[in-house]
This record gives sequence, C-alpha cells and structure tokens, in this order.
Amino acid sequence: MKHFTYVILGGGVAAGYAAREFAKQGVKPGELAIISKESVAPYERPALSKGYLFPQNAARLPGFHTCVGSGGERLLPEWYSEKGIELILSTEIVKADLASKTLTSSADATFTYETLLIATGSSVIKLTDFGVQGAEANNILYLRDIEDADKLVAAMQAKKDGKAVVVGGGYIGLELSAALKINNFDVTMVYPEPWCMPRLFTAGLAAFYEGYYANKGIHIVKGTVAVTAVKLKNGNVLEADIVIVGVGGRPLTHPFKGQVAEEKGGIKTDAFFETSVPGVYAIADVAAFPMKLYNEMRRVEHVDHARKSAEQAVKAIKAKEAGESVPEYDYLPYFYSRSFDISWQFYGDNVGDDVLFGDNDPTAAKPMFGSYWIKDGKVVGVFLEGGSAEENQAIAKVARAPAAGGRRRGSQEGRTRLRCQS
Ligand code: FDA
Ligand code: NAD
Repeated sequence: MKHFTYVILGGGVAAGYAAREFAKQGVKPGELAIISKESVAPYERPALSKGYLFPQNAARLPGFHTCVGSGGERLLPEWYSEKGIELILSTEIVKADLASKTLTSSADATFTYETLLIATGSSVIKLTDFGVQGAEANNILYLRDIEDADKLVAAMQAKKDGKAVVVGGGYIGLELSAALKINNFDVTMVYPEPWCMPRLFTAGLAAFYEGYYANKGIHIVKGTVAVTAVKLKNGNVLEADIVIVGVGGRPLTHPFKGQVAEEKGGIKTDAFFETSVPGVYAIADVAAFPMKLYNEMRRVEHVDHARKSAEQAVKAIKAKEAGESVPEYDYLPYFYSRSFDISWQFYGDNVGDDVLFGDNDPTAAKPMFGSYWIKDGKVVGVFLEGGSAEENQAIAKVARAPAAGGRRRGSQEGRTRLRCQS
C-alpha cells in the first residue's frame, strides 16, 4: 500500500496541467502521485487526431507532452521525477472507495490519499453499444489514446491506399476523414444526421465543410447508421480495409458510481471542482460544473477546459489549505478544430438565433466565414473559420461581452459590435 497527500487519478491532459499547477503552488517530494492506465506521461491528446497521423513528419512523443499545447513547458518524465511527483503508469484503478480514501488497481495494488482529483476523462462509445453486428472485427478502430493511434497508424501502413469508412460526423469523424485522405485513402463518411457536427454547426456552416470535404474527394453518406460493421440501414454495403468509429464519448465515472453526486452524465462539482464528497475533486471531461456565465450546470469535453479546470481545482485546494479562497470558475467555452488547411474557433454558446456571415463557398481560395448566435438581444456565441489570431481574440471578446444594461455577469469587457456581411 502506498500513501500520498494528493492523488490525481488519470494521466491525460488535465493530469499534466494539474501537476504543473501543484509544482507552481509548491508540493514536497512524495506528496503527489499521478495514477494512469496509460504507459506514458501526460500528453496533449488533440495531437492524436492531427499531427500524429501525418504521412510525413508526424508528431511523436516526447514532442507533445503537456503543457506544450498551450505554449507552456514540456513536462518530460524527468520533470516529474525532479519534482518528486510519482508517475504510476500502466496502472488501472478498478475500485475506488471514497469513504476509506482507498484506490485499488487491477493488479491489486492499493493507494490511499488525503485529497483526490478525478481526471479519468472519457471512454469511447463502441458500435457494439448500439447492438451493431460484427463490430468486434479487428479492422474496426476507435481513437482515444496513444495505443489506439498506434493501431491506426499500423493499419494505414498495412492497407496503403486502401478504402476507409468513417462512422460518425462529429469531431473524430471530420478530423479522421481528413487524416485518412491525406494518407491517400479512399474515404467514405457515414452519419445519421442531416449535416455534420450538428451539436455545433448550423446547416450553413456544415454546408461549407461538407462541400470542402467533397472537393477533397471524401464521399459523404448522411441520414443513416451502420447496422453491421459496414452495412448501412439504407441497405447499402460499403467495402472497407479500415473502419474508424467516432460516435461520441462517455465520461469515465464508473469507479465512483453511487458514492458521489452525478449530473449530466458526469460527476457534479462546485465552482472549485470539489464534488459532493469533501476532499474529492473532479476535473475536465468528467466534471459537471456550474457554468457561471450561463447560470447552468454543464459538462465540457474539450482541451481548453481540461487545462483550466485542472488549474482552478489545484489553486482551490492549495488556497483552502492556507485558509484562503480563490474566485469561482468563470469559464467562456472555447472549442476549435483543424483539418487539411482549414481551421475554426468557437467561443461562447450556440443557442438562440444564428446568423451566417462571410463567404462559405467551399471552393474559395481562402475561406473566411462564420456564424454568430443571438439570445435575448445579445451575441452569445461566435464561430469563425479562417480567422487570424487577432480576429479570434476579437470573437472571444464578443462572446463574453455583457448585454446592454450589463445583464450578463462575470465580464469586464465593454460592449463590442460584430461586423458582418450578411
Ligand atoms: P484524458 O482523456 O485526456 O485523460 C484521462 C486519463 O485517465 C487517461 O490517461 C486514461 O487512461 C486515464 N484513466 C481513465 N480511467 C482510469 C482508471 N480507472 N485508472 C487509471 N487511469 C485511468 N479537444 C479540443 O478542444 N480540441 C481538439 O482538437 C481535441 N482533439 C481531440 C482528439 C482526440 C483524438 C481526442 C480523443 C480528444 C480530443 N479533444 C480535443 C478532447 C480533449 O482531448 C479532452 O477534452 C481532454 O483530453 C480531456 O482531458 P481529461 O484529462 O479529462 O481526459
Ligand atoms: P461527437 O459527439 O463529436 O460526435 C459523435 C457523432 O457520432 C455524431 O455527430 C453522429 O454523427 C455520430 N453518431 C452517433 N450515433 C451514430 C450511429 N449509430 N451511427 C453513426 N454515427 C453515429 O464525438 P466524437 O467525434 O466521437 O469525439 C469523441 C470525443 O473526443 C468528444 O468528447 C469530443 O469532444 C472529443 N474530440 C474533440 C475534438 C476537438 O475538439 N477538435 C477532436 C476530436 C475529439
């Protein structure tokens, strides 16, 4: 049995940023451990669906360990040992007893703690979860961690210039279709909705991306689902050397079921990421936290929040120990994606009426367009494709700006007007 003052359970994005914040705030050697079922130190997960899959000059560890994704120091395994932070890798926790503050691994090792940070992230939803037949075949791949990415790279090498079917029209679907195309695969995307990424894109935004992908030679089959590995509900059968599935994630909360309050499929926290169990914190993908700006509980499965929630929780833990406090988490949602030569950013909330602006012609030499969302007479969210760093900063400001009369809380900025062409 090993005892630590602080244990971070999970070794992904949030773990890396939490460890850096602990080091900043001051931890003594031996006080902090990260327990991860992965075999490598925390890394910037977004690289797996982008640079990791490039046919040339692909990103590889140690190049993208946290915290390089936000322009910070790269925390190599040596960094953890220099700080006396124990990295307990290749160790899956199968049982958590929050009452006795004990974690048990699949190899029956036990770890006790005083403060726990749950940073277990999400697991992928499998086709078998929908009862799809033949979905265990070994050419059916998912992408969550570096082991999955290595399998995909090996499959791409083994099936050079082959046919790929990508199931799902969300983040993974769009980023992986592009990656497979860049690797010279004949790619078909299949998704049930009328347009891609419906949880964020409007029909007008999606029209650009679908057109752009079609121009790159990607075939799109919409409005149907896979009923066997590559047989569609509409009766068509797709031939494939590789099937990639990106049909969503699920917060990884099972070791804590029944022991901690849950909400929105995640673990319920306060504005400092402390759960219903004192001394137990939940951060990043698994946390359902009060989103101050919208006065609502939310869960966010994106890297910017993973980094910031980790820092907030560690600051709150250290402040509490010192009898001090930190301000409540006041987060402005920020999502982004990149594929081929295009990239977009989104800030705020995609609710209310939407207005498309700019030119969303997929054949444009340098596409630049976007959408903004208006609720109660105020712009609450802005999406921009092809923006410069300054323009992206400007849309963040617009999404955060208070309504006339200062009805929106939590913002210092004044009113900002958004220019648009439509
Ligand atoms: P994360 O998944 O990073 O880490 C969880 C860790 O916990 C893993 O190491 C896991 O093995 C470990 N773990 C889980 N259960 C365990 C157990 N029982 N015992 C031990 N260890 C356990 N976002 C974005 O904004 N822009 C982007 O471009 C991308 N791109 C992207 C690509 C891909 C391929 C994925 C899968 C995800 C993204 N994301 C993204 C989302 C982003 O990466 C995600 O929101 C964060 O990684 C969440 O950070 P966490 O630390 O919560 O989970
Ligand atoms: P997602 O929620 O973005 O997309 C899921 C998609 O699955 C839906 O849009 C739908 O098209 C499809 N789908 C659902 N049921 C289906 C069915 N039965 N058959 C066919 N298609 C079906 O999830 P994802 O793309 O799998 O991403 C997984 C996780 O990784 C998410 O947390 C996501 O935020 C994260 N991620 C984020 C980024 C980014 O922010 N750029 C990039 C990659 C992954």
